[in-house]
Amino acid sequence: MTAQLIDGKAIAAAIRERLAVEVVAFHKSTNRFPKLAAILVGDDAASQVYVRNKEQACAKAGIASEVHRLGANTTQAELLQRVAQLNAEPSVNGILVQLPLPPQIHETTILDSITPLKDVDCFHPENVGRLAQGRPRFLPCTPHGVQQVLRLSGICVDGAHVVVLGRSEIVGKPISLMLAQKGETANATVTICHSRTKNLADFTRRADILIAAIGKPQFVTAEMLKPGVVVIDVGINRVGDKLVGDVDFESVAQIASAITPVPGGIGPMTIAMLLENTLNAAKLQI
Ligand code: GUN
Repeated sequence: MTAQLIDGKAIAAAIRERLAVEVVAFHKSTNRFPKLAAILVGDDAASQVYVRNKEQACAKAGIASEVHRLGANTTQAELLQRVAQLNAEPSVNGILVQLPLPPQIHETTILDSITPLKDVDCFHPENVGRLAQGRPRFLPCTPHGVQQVLRLSGICVDGAHVVVLGRSEIVGKPISLMLAQKGETANATVTICHSRTKNLADFTRRADILIAAIGKPQFVTAEMLKPGVVVIDVGINRVGDKLVGDVDFESVAQIASAITPVPGGIGPMTIAMLLENTLNAAKLQI
């Protein structure tokens, strides 16, 4: 392997240590601890793991957390009522509804019901609108994690050609906006590719930085890239008993200049950014 391995786990650990210090300072000045409320509906195995990881990360950073576990048959009205309770609860600073939700519940209706000041995922249209206008209240966790990994690894984004694979509301769309905007770790020329893009490799081969967020295991191979590219792999796919990204790590690491692994790359960064948003939400609500 010739690529520099970008250790997201270590970068996230350093950010979490800094946040733990900031949480102590917040407590000193307010006599309160920031608090995250997570709602988990149903029994999706991956979601259970994600929520447990978020709970543990909160505890380590000194952030209070509570998990509301609701049955798979929960109605939309019941979930809306739970969100309303948490919206009104002054001790709760951040609310996260773990996705996906069961089919009887309309995702957008639920996400729109979270009060924007507690929307630590940054999924509410008011917060997405603010982000799009370059005046964010919160930054969405995974895109912000990608941006911080690039910044803290000393990778120059300014003027670079970034190719984003995927146009999801959670990753592809917001990261494209954030990297194209004016600002630090931004000012990139961004190309968004997706499942309907024709001649995909013609675009990916022109990337200085490739961000893979398409949810297809080991989809990106060395032949699709130019030597020296920086590769950020946002994918988490279970193949048999292994977790793999959207990038074929073995072949791509031979030609990239830097690459994030899966696991241990962007996943831990997402959680660190959630903690940061929860602390910021608590500060906003004082
Ligand atoms: N499911 C997969 N990713 C996410 C995320 O970032 N936030 C929430 N709430 N659910 C998810």
